Amino acid sequence: MNGHSDLRMTRIPLNQGVGLMPALGFGTLISEPAVTITATGDALEAGFRHFDCAARYGNEREVGRALQAGLAAGGIAREDIFVTTKLWNNNHRPERVEPAFEASLDRLGLKYLDLYLIHTPYAFQPGDDEDPRDQDGNVLYDHDVTLLDTWKAMENLVDHGKCRAIGLSDVGLNELKPIYESARIKPAVVQVESHPYLPETELLEYCKQKGIVLLAFAPLGHGMKPGLLEDPVISAIAARVGKTPAQVLLAWAVQRGTALLTTPKSAARARENFDISALPEDALDQINRIQTRQRLNEVVKTGVPGFIPQGKGRGA
Ligand SMILES: NC(=O)c1ccc[n+]([C@@H]2O[C@H](COP(=O)([O-])OP(=O)(O)OC[C@H]3O[C@@H](n4cnc5c(N)ncnc54)[C@H](OP(=O)(O)O)[C@@H]3O)[C@@H](O)[C@H]2O)c1
Repeated sequence: MNGHSDLRMTRIPLNQGVGLMPALGFGTLISEPAVTITATGDALEAGFRHFDCAARYGNEREVGRALQAGLAAGGIAREDIFVTTKLWNNNHRPERVEPAFEASLDRLGLKYLDLYLIHTPYAFQPGDDEDPRDQDGNVLYDHDVTLLDTWKAMENLVDHGKCRAIGLSDVGLNELKPIYESARIKPAVVQVESHPYLPETELLEYCKQKGIVLLAFAPLGHGMKPGLLEDPVISAIAARVGKTPAQVLLAWAVQRGTALLTTPKSAARARENFDISALPEDALDQINRIQTRQRLNEVVKTGVPGFIPQGKGRGA
């Protein structure tokens, strides 16, 4: 591979011919409304064309406002961007799926979504409370709905034409395989934590076989230090190729065939994280040989957001 080839415009085909997903995605899990607006605008200006949202992030209105303003200012068409949002755990009952989807569309100010994900495989008690708990603080789960029940309601959204593709988030092969096998409309995307300390190789192989895009979150290990950004292998490669550690980590993610989500909060970091080019094969091999293993998000075990950036906000 050419060590200088440009990865910025990499686009990954979604299964069932429903379009292309820009590999470089901007994630909108940001606690402060004002920062959500500036960071989303900065990402669009830097070149990001893929935006990952969630009802649970509580800021779909701000993201929508920033996107409308940025599209108008940049002469960018709605069809030129790829927008995802997610169904939260309190809305897994089939009859709650379409109203939740419509509410997200309305907050985002959009007429259709490119992708809608089931945020976690855990159903919480149905209702308006996003974090229902009993008197002792234990989460109230809903045992009367299965993930397949919810999936069938997701398929209906695609039938109704307001959502081009559907997928899952925070799942492993145990949840993905049965849905894939029973689904009338196959999952197009699986969004999970993935980085060199959590490569999810088996899941990635399965996804590649089935034409599912693995969309990696925490590609920079949530920016935690010490962590991936200071890993000696990553730093040495960065120095060798004249890129930053963040650019090395993002390039690795794209070159192994995943899409990714990153959340730079300043214009300078948005430009940095978008400006990625291919690493030489020996650098990819070195990263693949890193032995450290670390999962940063426990949400996969309970559906309850574990890691919350900046010690506040809504997580997952
Ligand atoms: N499905 C799920 O359950 C789930 C869970 C978590 C996240 N997500 C999605 O994934 C998105 C990505 O979030 P993430 O936390 O995983 O993103 P990330 O890009 O891995 O980490 C963001 C952190 O890295 C720092 N950072 C960003 N660019 C940097 C650079 N060039 N150099 C040094 N530090 C840098 C940021 O610092 P500053 O704040 O100082 O810029 C921030 O603290 C979220 O917004 C959300 O859309 C999904």
